[in-house]
Amino acid sequence: MHRFTRFLLPVLCALPGTKLGVAQNATPALSPGEQEQFLKTAKVVRTRGAGAGITGTTRVTLSDGQVTHDAHVQGINEARTEFSTSQSTEMNFKDSYKFNIAGYRLARLLGIGGMVPVSVERKIGGTTSAVTWWVDGVAMDETRRVKDAAQPPDAEQWSRQMNIVRVFDQLIHNTDRNGGNLVITGDWKLWMIDHTRAFRIARKLNRRENLVRCERALFEKLKQLDRAALETEMKGYLNSEEIKGLLARRDLIVEHFENQAKARGEAVIFYDYGR
Ligand SMILES: Nc1ncnc2c1ncn2[C@@H]1O[C@H](COP(=O)(O)OP(=O)(O)O)[C@@H](O)[C@H]1O
Ligand SMILES: [Mg+2]
Repeated sequence: MHRFTRFLLPVLCALPGTKLGVAQNATPALSPGEQEQFLKTAKVVRTRGAGAGITGTTRVTLSDGQVTHDAHVQGINEARTEFSTSQSTEMNFKDSYKFNIAGYRLARLLGIGGMVPVSVERKIGGTTSAVTWWVDGVAMDETRRVKDAAQPPDAEQWSRQMNIVRVFDQLIHNTDRNGGNLVITGDWKLWMIDHTRAFRIARKLNRRENLVRCERALFEKLKQLDRAALETEMKGYLNSEEIKGLLARRDLIVEHFENQAKARGEAVIFYDYGR
């Protein structure tokens, strides 16, 4: 590090609101809106493979001269009438970067934007892609946690986050929530990533049995989701059939939790999670 920078660094860091992305892991204090702007406009200064995962995505380092931060770049955009794996066949299969952006936007609408990193559309290396804020300080993903039998220090807080993930995945009809798509930071915060195989048109729930409890604030936001707001927010990312599927599943989720609350008591089903 340059001597001048080394001298100046503690001073600048002490100034409130200073955006100084000197160290890769020092998360600059950008608001979600500022992160969007940064992801759309900052210059690519380095490109490499993203590491885990199967679709060969890339990790880039972006810099605007003030802030330096990594981003994940996913450019896949495929649609097939039928898609078969050794385990199942899916009709109307889609694998699209657009759903990473839709996932972030939906989480934001639901007030759980802090669990899905900011994602924007941008052309990188000639391919229109989802460019997503890289989550810093990842300690492990869920696959690794299970393998290592790592126990969260606060089981209830962990369960509260996991139940938000479960509701979100039923809502978006996520067909790909494998452990690699849940990353966990050192402070045991869960982040949902990789929604390219979600947002199906099905008007039914994939796994109703996963809906155990629901955060109260999320439940209220779910009830408020409406077609007009979704159509505006998801323009270019979800088509009208995908929005209809989403709203039909929303109705089923709300009905499910209302029935559960009647049968087992509100206090058993609904909870608060200070976010
Ligand atoms: N925003 C992100 N922050 C941190 N790590 C990420 C992020 N996006 C992706 N990764 C890492 O890159 C891997 C591959 O990305 P992913 O979107 O899951 O693509 P794939 O389709 O290959 O599974 C993830 O499993 C995760 O380890
Ligand atoms: Mg993945």
